[in-house]
Amino acid sequence: GESKLQLLRSHIRAFPDFPKKGIVFRDICPILKDAAVLKAVIDLFEEHVRNSHQHVDLIVGLDARGFLFGPLLAQRLGVGFVLVRKKGKLPGPTVSVAYDLEYGKAEAEMQADAVAPGQKVLLIDDLLATGGTLKAACDLMRKMQAEVLGCMVVIELKELNGIDKVQPHNVFSLVQY
Ligand code: PRP
Ligand code: HPA
Repeated sequence: GESKLQLLRSHIRAFPDFPKKGIVFRDICPILKDAAVLKAVIDLFEEHVRNSHQHVDLIVGLDARGFLFGPLLAQRLGVGFVLVRKKGKLPGPTVSVAYDLEYGKAEAEMQADAVAPGQKVLLIDDLLATGGTLKAACDLMRKMQAEVLGCMVVIELKELNGIDKVQPHNVFSLVQY
């Protein structure tokens, strides 16, 4: 685990004042560009899930960067993947909730038939900042009567206390700043 984590850490770049002054943007693109690093990330997530959860029905990925990791993890686990999207992107009947971002406002939406009542789901995204996005996704899961086993992110920005907003759900992170 430790060398995979070191490999991961060395492939996250920091861009000060993006997309706004005062925000240090953590860029995951170097992780995706390197096949061995991307594999290490999925290995670490898979290890966590196998150690923590007996049974998972679905991986739920958050728009847009949760889509980069979620399907790869779902394939490893042999389960399906469903999408939580920004408003207006999904056809058919949907369920939605509004939320605040670190730098803006948004609405999260899911197809009404994406998750069945009682299904056990794990949420995944690239990064936890204020926790608004993951909280909205957890609220969506509650509306759909799904059981949230936990949340997973590559990066947690600890000073924003996103974990507090997402509670009582657990957030597992690979790298913390
Ligand atoms: C970023 C990031 C998370 C969210 C974290 O996505 O990928 O989804 O913000 O912030 P929070 O914890 O304060 O809610 P963004 O909304 O920038 O959209 P994108 O993934 O489509 O680029
Ligand atoms: N980096 C990358 N993505 C983000 C950030 C950040 O600091 N905050 C919200 N989304």
